[in-house]
Amino acid sequence: MSKPRILVARAVFPQTLARLEQHFEVESNQADATWSQPELIARLQGKVGAFTTGTERIDATLLAACPDLKVCANMAVGFNNFDVPAMSARKVLATNTPDVLTETTADFGFALLMATARRICESEHYLRAGQWTKWSYDMFAGAEVHGSTLGILGMGRIGQGIAKRGAHGFGMNVIYHNRSRLTPELEAACKARYVGKEELLKTADHLVLVLPYTAASHHAIGAAEIALMKPTATLVNIARGGIVDDAALAQALKAGRIAAAGLDVFEGEPKVHPDLLTVPNVVLTPHIASATVTTRRAMADLAADNLIGFLVDGKPLTPLNPEVLG
Ligand code: DGY
Repeated sequence: MSKPRILVARAVFPQTLARLEQHFEVESNQADATWSQPELIARLQGKVGAFTTGTERIDATLLAACPDLKVCANMAVGFNNFDVPAMSARKVLATNTPDVLTETTADFGFALLMATARRICESEHYLRAGQWTKWSYDMFAGAEVHGSTLGILGMGRIGQGIAKRGAHGFGMNVIYHNRSRLTPELEAACKARYVGKEELLKTADHLVLVLPYTAASHHAIGAAEIALMKPTATLVNIARGGIVDDAALAQALKAGRIAAAGLDVFEGEPKVHPDLLTVPNVVLTPHIASATVTTRRAMADLAADNLIGFLVDGKPLTPLNPEVLG
């Protein structure tokens, strides 16, 4: 019997590819070529499954043009590249990779917060540029992290991981805002207090964004929200580009309306707003919050397990629209 045909849309670990090839006839992209949307559609012809990352857009137009497609397995916890209602309407299963990246991403959120608040990158560039000729009392004096107030916008699994690191590791006073409030047990475990968004913005010394990107969270942090923040505050975005209005943020950083920002995600990435590249008080990283070898392997394995689970055994592990399973 012939194997089901799938497309692996981006380069992946050779081990992941080898595993998928045991079950499927695989067209892969190990050269990691950037495919246009029409090219992605052309390559999906006759394929029942797609292994995607956050960079492939699965929308109504693509679905209409790819009638054989039955499942798209995203190697990411975020799935704003999927139009899930359109997928459900066409009975195409969507899966993502929750849990396996929670702690690693929370580690990175904290690392970015520390690097930003303590001006690590800015001072390193200064040293490398040969500008360090003598020590001085206020050289690269940043913001206190331990004992300060950590604000978290979006309190899912990763937000909770950051809260625990702040509360238990750094004695921070943790406040959060989320669409829904955590249970008392989870609030106690995170030592976190629920507040309104305005109080969060006004009170946090460090504000970390970990909410999903949706139409409702587009520009959740823009000029008006930044204006409410303390002038000494740090803003960290490890969620998705588009949640922050990057142009407004760049202006605010230039004008000193907040102290600093740490950004792992950008509107229209991999493009970065040119003004963000020129302000010194921002730490910029290329969407690497989940990037450890162990975690990326776990994400790839889970995405592969979802394809095998659905197409071979009829049981995907982490479906986003389980209603299509019937
Ligand atoms: C995720 O898993 O959503 C990360 O942002 C990697 O894309």
